[in-house]
Amino acid sequence: MKATKVDTKQEKQASIEQTQNKPDRRLKALEVTMKRNQYRQDALIEILHKAQESFGYLEPDILEYIARELKLPLSRVYGVATFYHLFSLKPSGEHSCVVCMGTACYVKGSDKILVKLEQELGIKSGETTDDQKVSLMSARCLGACGIAPSVVFDEQVAGKVTPEIAIEKVQAWQKNSSEE
Ligand code: FES
Repeated sequence: MKATKVDTKQEKQASIEQTQNKPDRRLKALEVTMKRNQYRQDALIEILHKAQESFGYLEPDILEYIARELKLPLSRVYGVATFYHLFSLKPSGEHSCVVCMGTACYVKGSDKILVKLEQELGIKSGETTDDQKVSLMSARCLGACGIAPSVVFDEQVAGKVTPEIAIEKVQAWQKNSSEE
């Protein structure tokens, strides 16, 4: 009897938590669009449109989710998302840098790349520098494991990246913008 009472209390708590974390409406809208298109790979652009409309920009988690659902390599989804100017991968920065933290990249040191970039930029992954120049992000697997560790600098996927190469790239962005 007592156990039932505790269970009921726990259930209540769980249901409150569920309500607080209720499924994101934006995610729901994206799911509906994918379902309507029967998860067809050739509907990728329309689906990316919906995602951008719902979230404001195409964050790495969303791109990973779309790639998974459409059974497309993540590199293809990034390729399309970065090819069309109407899509934005950035929260607000002028440049974006997505470090792959998937297993293949991680074992080849992508964590060190991310740490160095965080130190250089003075921000954490998922943030944008105060001057709105660079947004730093991380992804799970970009689908380019053969060239690990990989990083997407603006529109381009770069392979065999070292912390030094990544820092150089970011410094060049900062230098160019201070010269403008
Ligand atoms: S783990 Fe980085 S591209 Fe696959």
